Amino acid sequence: MKDNFDRDIHYLRLSVTDKCNLRCIYCVPETGVPKKRHEDILTVEEINEIVQAAASCGIKKVRITGGEPLVRRGIIDICKFIAGADGISEVCLTTNGIALPEFASGLKAAGVNRLNISLDTLDRKTYNKITRTDLLEAALHGVDIAIKTGFDAIKINAVLIGGMNESDIWRLLDFTKKYKVDVRFIELMPIGECADWAKEKFVSSQIVLKTAPELVETGMQGVSKLYKFPDALGTVGLISPISSHFCPTCNRIRITADGILKPCLHSAEEINLRGLHGDALENVIKDAILGKPEKHKLCRGDRLPLTNHPPLEGKGRRNMNEIGG
Ligand code: 5AD
Ligand code: SF4
Repeated sequence: MKDNFDRDIHYLRLSVTDKCNLRCIYCVPETGVPKKRHEDILTVEEINEIVQAAASCGIKKVRITGGEPLVRRGIIDICKFIAGADGISEVCLTTNGIALPEFASGLKAAGVNRLNISLDTLDRKTYNKITRTDLLEAALHGVDIAIKTGFDAIKINAVLIGGMNESDIWRLLDFTKKYKVDVRFIELMPIGECADWAKEKFVSSQIVLKTAPELVETGMQGVSKLYKFPDALGTVGLISPISSHFCPTCNRIRITADGILKPCLHSAEEINLRGLHGDALENVIKDAILGKPEKHKLCRGDRLPLTNHPPLEGKGRRNMNEIGG
């Protein structure tokens, strides 16, 4: 359905757990996050009810996120229900890849169309620094298995972190030459854990073009500006939420693992869906879509320099593991 700014909202990002088997520096504190109580997390039945209600409000595409969705018990059944729900035509899942060897074929059979694999570097030392674990090989094995499983599309999402993975960009770019995999570089957003990081850590995605000036621009895909190497199998995409924000074409809402609807990632506005059923649930989702803010306040103006932004206060200051990226 359309929101108040004439945007067609048809995309739901649904977090099914706040738990994760990695501890990325921009996402969670070193000590890990306090675990939510089991009863605070949506049950499979609640998830199904919410997805069905969202579909009745015009949601057609669902992305399942976390934390790490593959650590959620019953994830295959959750995917199966969502893929089979009336009105849902596309199901995607975002994962760090570690558990893909175990789950890839089950996800495909359940009806998951596409995978996004979060992988910020192909260098083991840098991987260990970013994720605080030594699991690069497992993640790469996951990517390999995903490619062999034959999803409609596989994306690798790499968050750019100044002073951390810039020197490794070329290796990720190389991936698109060898495999039919789309690599997306994402500008780090000052949210949650990295809200008050030094401004040098927030690098513009333009740095990718400096690394590989031979990339040829081929158009837009959603919020990604696409590029390709001549004769490459996969594409390269730049996602620039900071240097050129895409609020005017935003098509999404988010629901956290504890059942909170967030009309905008960067707004503190939260709407609790728990305990709502039937028409009441649908009406609250519709109102939330209508009330979606016009744009975020991380950037002041339309094209802004990368800068330190005032962090959100209070409840709005959730970490990404709770919201699901
Ligand atoms: N800025 C940009 N992307 C982020 N992600 C998590 N935190 C941030 C951030 N601050 C991405 C990561 C993560 C996915 C769920 O969202 O790729 O794996
Ligand atoms: Fe969409 Fe909000 Fe992000 Fe803008 S800030 S792109 S409206 S989620």
